[in-house]
Amino acid sequence: MNGKSTMTAAERERLDQIRGALEAHMEPVKPKRYEHSLGVAETAGRLARTYGVDEFQATAAGYVHDWDKVLTNEELLARAERYGIKIVGPAERSVALLHGPVAAVELPRLFPDLPPAVFQAVDRHTVGAEDMSPLDMVVFVADAMEPHRKGDYADRLRELAGKVSLTELFFQCFSQGLVYVIQTGRYLYPTAVGIYNTYAMMDGRNEPASN
Ligand SMILES: [Fe+2]
Ligand SMILES: [Fe+2]
Repeated sequence: MNGKSTMTAAERERLDQIRGALEAHMEPVKPKRYEHSLGVAETAGRLARTYGVDEFQATAAGYVHDWDKVLTNEELLARAERYGIKIVGPAERSVALLHGPVAAVELPRLFPDLPPAVFQAVDRHTVGAEDMSPLDMVVFVADAMEPHRKGDYADRLRELAGKVSLTELFFQCFSQGLVYVIQTGRYLYPTAVGIYNTYAMMDGRNEPASN
């Protein structure tokens, strides 16, 4: 999984600033989550190069995707309600998924120069969507296979990255996550079934990686 970086000096400088902002925001309170975020940014950048996705946007989204993981469950629920974020099923069951959509509302104010596509990828990194963009998929998969993630699930994604299409990689990631939720008897967010079926039925999903 390789590919050359085409980022400009200005983009690299901006990424350094975003990483600095993340460090100040997260490192003192959630150091492991901070390290995870660095891993996601690096992995998302690499996947972006491999699959012809914007490397700057992927790296930036990786840095900020868990921005609101510093909040308590009560605060996440309160903000989700305040922002009118739509939750399917009981809200208290879905608390772990709210940091994506909540951050997608708050981050544009903190990083107004970043494009909406970055915030959409942050929004969708917890629940996914039936119409994932390539950037959405890169961030979703990077979250599951960054170097700090251990276990067969992450290893299998690392093995597949660059060998299968980005859509197939996302589908494998999403469906393995779904299997885990079911195997461990956890609550399944209701939209997951629709997302799974959309990608399970997709023509050409299994075509090999083109670059
Ligand atoms: Fe997350
Ligand atoms: Fe994450």
